[in-house]
Amino acid sequence: HAGAGGCPVSPQAAAFDPFAPAYLANPAEALKWSREQEPVFYSPQLGYWVVSRYDDVKAVFRDNVTFSPSIALERVVPPSAVAIETLKRYNYAMNRTLVNEDEPAHMERRRALMDHFLPANLAEHEDMIRRLTREKVDAFIDSGRADLVEAMFWEIPLTVALHFLGVPKEDMETLKEFSVAHTVNTWGKPTPDEQLKVADTVGRFWQFSGQVLDRMRRQPDGTGWMHYAIRKNAEIPDIVTDSYLHSMMMAIIVAGHETTSLASANALKLLLSNRLVWDRICKDPALIPNAVEECLRLDGSVVAWRRQATRECEISGVTIPKDAKLLIVSASANHDPRHFENGDFLDIYRDSAVEHLTFGYGSHQCMGKNFARLEMRIFIEELARRLPHMRLVEDQQYDYLPSLAFHGPDKLFVEWDPASNPERADA
Ligand code: HEM
Repeated sequence: HAGAGGCPVSPQAAAFDPFAPAYLANPAEALKWSREQEPVFYSPQLGYWVVSRYDDVKAVFRDNVTFSPSIALERVVPPSAVAIETLKRYNYAMNRTLVNEDEPAHMERRRALMDHFLPANLAEHEDMIRRLTREKVDAFIDSGRADLVEAMFWEIPLTVALHFLGVPKEDMETLKEFSVAHTVNTWGKPTPDEQLKVADTVGRFWQFSGQVLDRMRRQPDGTGWMHYAIRKNAEIPDIVTDSYLHSMMMAIIVAGHETTSLASANALKLLLSNRLVWDRICKDPALIPNAVEECLRLDGSVVAWRRQATRECEISGVTIPKDAKLLIVSASANHDPRHFENGDFLDIYRDSAVEHLTFGYGSHQCMGKNFARLEMRIFIEELARRLPHMRLVEDQQYDYLPSLAFHGPDKLFVEWDPASNPERADA
């Protein structure tokens, strides 16, 4: 097989499988060979060009004209005919949001909708996040054992996201089912049988999003980002379009919480696996903000993103044909020793931690990044203060969703001796 650039495909490139368990568990480690030997390669199994070094990934993110984000939410596995039929029955028409919109429409829309994400406007959510976190910790602190994903990391970011969006709190189990189906549908590798089930759930999610939107349209004074977008839609319908509203309603319920849930689980897993670091954080909570950043660098919840070349171009001397699809692996870039000294090691004092590419880079960089940071900081503050003695349950098996983009364990079991809880000692 020859790559589209005419170069032969190396054995490693031919073998590259982003759904292999080793890659899903640790994409940075699985692509070490590429960072060292072949930083830009064509993957015949995936049909994408894979980019693994920091400077290259950043350059692709930065130039969103040469590298269009239009395929960011495209299905990795083309849907089967029956899956298409199923989606049609639900009038499924997921289209451009922000993350997959080209210029100039993207920037106009982003500017019109930015206000709610400014740090001053995020601060008002801090009390709620802390209250929810305390309530969740209250519920399990005397039990001596918990799955942190189930006990808090799944539900708090979802509750906070719904509040931020102004979406009435819905049945959490249904939303969880919807989110998983959307993730598998977009970034997964479903079998034909799974495709059908996923298509049905995604179809229901689409209908549900439309219904929520209709209900919200009938409350012109509603608060939250989606209500704000609905008013902008009335004011500037060519920029904040109808199609955008429906697509975004569905996409943001997932983007706004699953990323943060997974990032929190990754962070706690990483910190508790490095006991000295965790103990230090518990003694000095001022270290937490940079520790959050370092966790996002070393084990982020978005590990790769996609772009499509709008013209023939070159990356690190490799010719990329027009229309080629690119998988830019931020998790690999974040470990690149050319940019981060000892890139595989956790160093919560690292000055450059914030330069990670987990939130993307450039004009599409994650609008919710400070929101995610705020939530993660509060989770770690509360856990470090109230459960400094907790440990990871040994020998637990971590399962990862088969996803090209999202990464995090489905469960995270911790245990501790409730008799040693600091608040008991205080009492
Ligand atoms: C875009 C990651 C949390 C809203 C993005 C992008 C990434 C990302 C990789 C694409 C960046 C690019 O193309 O350059 C993450 C991660 C999160 C997180 C890792 C948590 C740890 C959130 C939250 C929200 C949010 C909490 C909303 C409340 C958005 C929006 C965009 C975006 C609206 C589109 C921006 C644009 O295209 O202009 N995010 N995200 N994200 N994210 Fe996040």
